[in-house]
Amino acid sequence: TEEIEQITLLSAADVENYRLKFLVSKGVVKGLFEEFKTVSSEEKRVLGKVLNEFKQLAENKYQEAQELFGKSNTNTVKLEEGDLTLPGEGFQLGSRHPLSLVRKEIVEIFKKLGFVVAEGPEIEDDWHNFSALNFPPEHPARDMQDTFFIKKQDGNDIALRTHTSSVQVRLMEAGKPPFRAIMPGRVYRNEAISARAHCFFHQVEGLYVDEDVSFADLKQTLFHFVQELYGEGTKVRFRPSYFPFTEPSAEMDISCTICKGQGCQLCKGSGWVEILGCGMVDPNVLENCGIDSKKYSGFAFGMGIERITNLKYEIKDLRLFSENDVRFLSQFETEI
Ligand code: PHE
Repeated sequence: TEEIEQITLLSAADVENYRLKFLVSKGVVKGLFEEFKTVSSEEKRVLGKVLNEFKQLAENKYQEAQELFGKSNTNTVKLEEGDLTLPGEGFQLGSRHPLSLVRKEIVEIFKKLGFVVAEGPEIEDDWHNFSALNFPPEHPARDMQDTFFIKKQDGNDIALRTHTSSVQVRLMEAGKPPFRAIMPGRVYRNEAISARAHCFFHQVEGLYVDEDVSFADLKQTLFHFVQELYGEGTKVRFRPSYFPFTEPSAEMDISCTICKGQGCQLCKGSGWVEILGCGMVDPNVLENCGIDSKKYSGFAFGMGIERITNLKYEIKDLRLFSENDVRFLSQFETEI
């Protein structure tokens, strides 16, 4: 007993030596038990207890040491088990936002037709967002319901732009015709947030001003755009509409991309879905921007990227676009 108590086990090798000395079948403990068989039964009564305590002590010491040195042992083993030549785990790459994907697609189509991309500020004054675009002073779109006004400045309202038509004004004011540009960007409207409306969304507007630009040019350009975006054979139709800045004005529908015009929930059975507003630039707007409306004419159009994306990917809730839920976003990983 004393000998065991005095032994200090400092390494895995010490532990193994200890085991070989005391615990194997030819070791000290087993030896003592063999001897024990030969003593008288009276002695057995006394010695039995002592021997068992000794055995317990010997085994406990081994177990403790084993735990101490055994652990670091298993660590080493684990490391050795791993194949260090294997490539590491890759980073999870992000994916492009569906709105960015579709915006890029729209831009590419118009670029091939010679349109350049124009940008402007999201905070606008009344002139660029409304007045230059022929909105009468009492027009309901200026109402607090639609527009986020920011503050009064010298009596003039500053607002978050409600459409990117403001960029058309800036473009025309800054240069000379011809103009052929598209204006992608974020716009804001004071709407209650739901599956179908949001307080901000994204638009691509387009403007083409030159001599002799006609409604036929407008129709052909937009027809081509739809064939490129939704595939050959997609039908278009124009319905008369009203915008202060275009005359005549129209809204364009396409044959439903889901049911191909057969009638489904998305197009509410009609076979058609509206995708954009358009028209011939009102001569007043040209004049407001310093362009001779006798010499030049033009067409303009504007669409919501969300609407175009919903149709392309069958997305039914607008809020998904701004919630940053990776379960939604990662579905676009394969798209570039
Ligand atoms: N600016 C209009 C809107 O925001 C869209 C539009 C643009 C309509 C150009 C006609 C011509 O709804």
